[in-house]
Amino acid sequence: MGDPANRVRPITWTGERLRLLDQTKLPTEILEHEYRDYQSVAEAIRTMIVRGAPAIGASAAYGMVLGAFEFRDRPRDEFVTGMKQVADTLAETRPTAVNLFWALRRMLQVIDSHPEAEVEELVQRLTAEADAIAREDEETCRRIGDNGASLIKDGDGVLTHCNAGALATVDYGTALGVIRSAHRQGKKIHVYVDETRPYLQGARLTAWEMVQEQIPATLITDSMAGWMMQQGRIQAAVVGADRIAANGDTANKIGTYTVAVLCKEHGIPFYVAAPLSTIDLDIDSGQEIPIEERDPREITHFYDRRIAPEGIQVANPAFDVTPAEYITGIITELGVVKAPYRESIAALFAKAKEKANE
Ligand code: MRU
Repeated sequence: MGDPANRVRPITWTGERLRLLDQTKLPTEILEHEYRDYQSVAEAIRTMIVRGAPAIGASAAYGMVLGAFEFRDRPRDEFVTGMKQVADTLAETRPTAVNLFWALRRMLQVIDSHPEAEVEELVQRLTAEADAIAREDEETCRRIGDNGASLIKDGDGVLTHCNAGALATVDYGTALGVIRSAHRQGKKIHVYVDETRPYLQGARLTAWEMVQEQIPATLITDSMAGWMMQQGRIQAAVVGADRIAANGDTANKIGTYTVAVLCKEHGIPFYVAAPLSTIDLDIDSGQEIPIEERDPREITHFYDRRIAPEGIQVANPAFDVTPAEYITGIITELGVVKAPYRESIAALFAKAKEKANE
């Protein structure tokens, strides 16, 4: 239930090329593009053909592999310089989701930790690392899903915002992973899908995932969430994350903070589901998280049709930061952490280190 083997995947590596499902076209068109060079992968991330923090990270890792293919005939020092340039190009695409920088750092680390390796060996190692990032993401999401499912009760109405689903990861999803696992366990849940203005990841992508897998769901506009809570239709909220600071403050799609505040007002638990790769220990609090500002056209136009008057000023921050005090729990692959977050997150990383040394 809720986990068909034939689920459409956002990212496919053919061994030579990267195939990305065009998420700007969903749900009306299921279209894949094939990428042969890192510049076009960077463009696909920037234009949100692929989006969602873990999916951006995995795509960037394969972008690095395509860059390595391009430089494989060069002498070693030129290869290394070239790869740094590839990483810089990919890093300039979207600033908020830390998984992008995490994946690029992991890929560059492969080069740094093999100073004796010939170029061809590095190309093989980089390919293996990108495959590992993709494979681990899928496993991680399933663990997040199973760890979070116990927080969802039979009969719950569960609100989610944006798309933190299979489309935003390599497979299964983070927030939607929790929902998938609860559904697979036979819990009769009903999902409330915020449409997620202005880019409509909820209406277009989350709603599509729910329909594909026949998980009962209702699409609402963002402004309806408070009313639905007041009416007693929502018992829990689960969202994804783009970057979590060391103190637990969480950046996620614009509108997430509003949901968290509404949850607090109504006494509804508000959960963040995210892998450890989304936690940025270099960032002390949410105030330091860079927030992407996107094209005003996403707000002034509906598809290609203008809906706002010429001359109006527009703000379009793509993310907001929910202070840790609004978060009931952060669901990770290693378990659920709660306040005080600075301590519980530090303990989580100590546990991860222990596991890695086992
Ligand atoms: O702008 P997007 O669509 O990339 O934003 C996506 C989100 O905010 C998701 O909630 C987040 O990346 C988590 S995805 C598992």
